Amino acid sequence: MTDENGATATGRLADKVIVVTAAAQGIGRAVAERLIADGAVVHASDINGAGMDGLDAESTTVLDATDGAAVAEYFTRFDRLDGVVQAVGYVHHGNIEECSDADWRRSMSITLDSAFYVMGAAVPKMKAEGGSIVTIGSICGSIKGFAKRAAYGASKGGIIGLTKSVAVDYLNDGIRCNSVCPGTVDSPSMRGRIAELAEKTGDAEAAYRFFIDRQPSGRFGKPEEIAAMCAFLLSDDGAFITGQAINVDGGITI
Ligand SMILES: NC(=O)c1ccc[n+]([C@@H]2O[C@H](COP(=O)([O-])OP(=O)(O)OC[C@H]3O[C@@H](n4cnc5c(N)ncnc54)[C@H](O)[C@@H]3O)[C@@H](O)[C@H]2O)c1
Repeated sequence: MTDENGATATGRLADKVIVVTAAAQGIGRAVAERLIADGAVVHASDINGAGMDGLDAESTTVLDATDGAAVAEYFTRFDRLDGVVQAVGYVHHGNIEECSDADWRRSMSITLDSAFYVMGAAVPKMKAEGGSIVTIGSICGSIKGFAKRAAYGASKGGIIGLTKSVAVDYLNDGIRCNSVCPGTVDSPSMRGRIAELAEKTGDAEAAYRFFIDRQPSGRFGKPEEIAAMCAFLLSDDGAFITGQAINVDGGITI
């Protein structure tokens, strides 16, 4: 069955039990929908419960992924897991001089602490039978520098570092760990960032150009295009891939 984005549901994730964080909107929501379409048993979570309405998941849970104790408690409900997608992240707009202490801490907390807690809780559930962890990284950070992304770039570089570390440490437990690194993707928060910049500068056209000019293909990515790569890595088709940062960026890094 092919959907309106040209994606074909494969069934290749049949019966795999997969946790998806940040599943209320944008990339996380598209990932959850794609995995469900491919046959997975999806457990979705987000800090925003209402955003998960209508998602045909096995469970939807309000979870603040920056709360280590809450994340640990959430994972006690699973005996074993086949996959996890860690999509929680936060974009601060600013160079290093424009980044306050609070901006820096918020960036590290939402993007990195959440990954530390979620991946740390997932690994023990995969050690017996193996599994696949996918982090949503970014081409911004350790792959390429972007204007006004000091804290964000630092946090996403950290995501790739943590991803590679987990991949090395648990290779022989059959756990694969990869980071999908999107270019600029059309999501609610990305639209919000354009609107915020337009309001700040009073120039809507320039604000739009700030984002679209990063995309040599002249268009933003679709959340579904990121989800397709996640589904591949979670499936047995990705069995020989681990420790990689895989760019899905419409040509930014050519
Ligand atoms: N959109 C892009 O252009 C782009 C590019 C590269 C990477 N990314 C990354 O992809 C991921 C998803 O981004 P997006 O733009 O699709 O989504 P988004 O920013 O529109 O949505 C983020 C989701 O995360 C949830 N969330 C926020 N804080 C949370 C917390 N503490 N605990 C649990 N959930 C929380 C929000 O409620 C929301 O549903 C992020 O990690 C982002 O950094 C996005």
